Amino acid sequence: MPPGVVMSAGRAVVACRAKAYIRRMESLHIHDAPPEGAADDWTVPQDWAHYSAQAHATWDRLFARQARQLQGRACAAFLRNLDALHLSRPGIPDFDELSERLHKRTGWQVVAVPGLVPDAVFFDHLANRRFVAGNFIRRPDQLDYLEEPDVFHDVFGHVPLLADPVYADYMQAYGQGGLRSLDFGALNKLARLYWYTVEFGLIEEEGALRLFGAGIVSSHGESRFALDDPSPNRIGFDLTRVMRTNYRIDDYQQSYFVIPSFEALLRATAETDFAPVYAALERLPDVAPEAVLAQDRLFTRGTQAYAIGKAQSPSGRSSVSPLGGMANRTT
Ligand code: PHE
Ligand code: FE
Repeated sequence: MPPGVVMSAGRAVVACRAKAYIRRMESLHIHDAPPEGAADDWTVPQDWAHYSAQAHATWDRLFARQARQLQGRACAAFLRNLDALHLSRPGIPDFDELSERLHKRTGWQVVAVPGLVPDAVFFDHLANRRFVAGNFIRRPDQLDYLEEPDVFHDVFGHVPLLADPVYADYMQAYGQGGLRSLDFGALNKLARLYWYTVEFGLIEEEGALRLFGAGIVSSHGESRFALDDPSPNRIGFDLTRVMRTNYRIDDYQQSYFVIPSFEALLRATAETDFAPVYAALERLPDVAPEAVLAQDRLFTRGTQAYAIGKAQSPSGRSSVSPLGGMANRTT
């Protein structure tokens, strides 16, 4: 676990994507060689024919629930591309078919992997415009909570924006930047950028806040909490600020960062040499997930009532109910 990652006291439950991402970033439990049946780049055939009727039905339930909830909440590009990629067709998407559609738009593909892959492999796929997706789907009793990213999170959450040309460039640049960060020993700083943008980012659109992070849009609870709940801070995106900020891996975020546009995000990252940024970060202290700094451009100063309520209740359950009543998020 990267230094400073917040764990809530004694809670074994850890949100899926969070845990998976940390593990991916830290390469824990990951061997150097691909598992049996996987290619040298760790990919496996999706084997679409193996999904049961129940597996497809789970996708359909999750899809219907989120597609409804995200109207007026997700950013325009996400909603537009959900349709454009035909993701609303019943059943778990066939990656080959999906990749063909995606490739025509932005040159990206979706490839299946058996589980977590080493950092460098993950970054290398992104740098080559391949998004790695888990090919299993959660069980019907795990609609709101699971520990590893499944095909719903990976495909519903991440793929629509890969059809957006600017976002597509950002993700590729992130992969290249990831490989580069290894040379600087700055992986955890770059992980924070991924966390607060790709997974939990908000965007300002026509004067309103909208969702774009995959961890939010694929979560029924957090897709309400992130926009509507008075608890979290909502802070204007600033690269150095974000890369200093620790994050929650066990519950909803205490701060969300708001980008003005994907162009602005691309400019601040892909068109910025991170070497001096990494050097500057060495001299700056980390920032706690709930902290507000004098320099912050605040959209909302959060009450933190949700997090405080949870910390106070001995069971770790919040006495303050989050919107939707979910204790754990699904990412
Ligand atoms: N420009 C960054 C660097 O110089 C790489 C990067 C691009 C990182 C996009 C994140 C996102 O290392
Ligand atoms: Fe994800």
